[in-house]
Amino acid sequence: MGNFKVKDHYFDKAKKDNYVARSVYKLEEIDQRFKILRPGMLVVDFGYYPGSWVQYTSKVIGDEGRVVGIDIQERNPKLTGIKNVRIYQKDIFDIADLSQLDVKDQFDVVLSDMAPSTTGMQSLDQIRSLNLVESVFGLLPKFLRPGGNFVIKVFDSQDAQNYLKEQKNRFNEFQYLKPKSTRSVSKEFFVIGKHFKA
Ligand SMILES: C[S@@+](CC[C@H](N)C(=O)[O-])C[C@H]1O[C@@H](n2cnc3c(N)ncnc32)[C@H](O)[C@@H]1O
Repeated sequence: MGNFKVKDHYFDKAKKDNYVARSVYKLEEIDQRFKILRPGMLVVDFGYYPGSWVQYTSKVIGDEGRVVGIDIQERNPKLTGIKNVRIYQKDIFDIADLSQLDVKDQFDVVLSDMAPSTTGMQSLDQIRSLNLVESVFGLLPKFLRPGGNFVIKVFDSQDAQNYLKEQKNRFNEFQYLKPKSTRSVSKEFFVIGKHFKA
């Protein structure tokens, strides 16, 4: 079932709106509800490929902002030439210093729509997914400025719920959302953290 693609309403809409993936509507809903992005912000998108979140973010932050997309996949040529976008082909866990991304400051916003490659074995996939989420939370002090915002995709499990409860106090606001465009069978949801505490 790995390559199974539902050509649903959001798929068609993404095509029509010139977005490279339907997942853009998840970020759009999150942003409209929780006001994550603003003009002029410096944003990093972990696991950006193919890049619909980069496209959306680029529009919202405008000319004064910048979005840095990082993925292990080869650069998506569809994103070249967008003025406020920088793309890097890297593993996010290999970035020792922010100067490798040609930025001086920490980011105003960290986005992560990353997912581990799945095996189809539910318990193993849940463990891998939670490991990834934990590792990304571990990167926040390096990447996210105090007061900054964070969005991350999580696959639901009891262990994930327990872990998230422990992380809650690292932000002034901490919310969960399952966007409307997420397929109802999916166990994914998003965690939105606002005002990261130093
Ligand atoms: C679901 S896709 C992102 C889709 C994207 N938000 C969009 O709207 O187009 C997840 C991506 O995370 C990337 N990824 C997973 N682990 C990574 C890592 N350690 N470093 C960089 N990218 C990673 C994968 O290569 C994959 O392209």
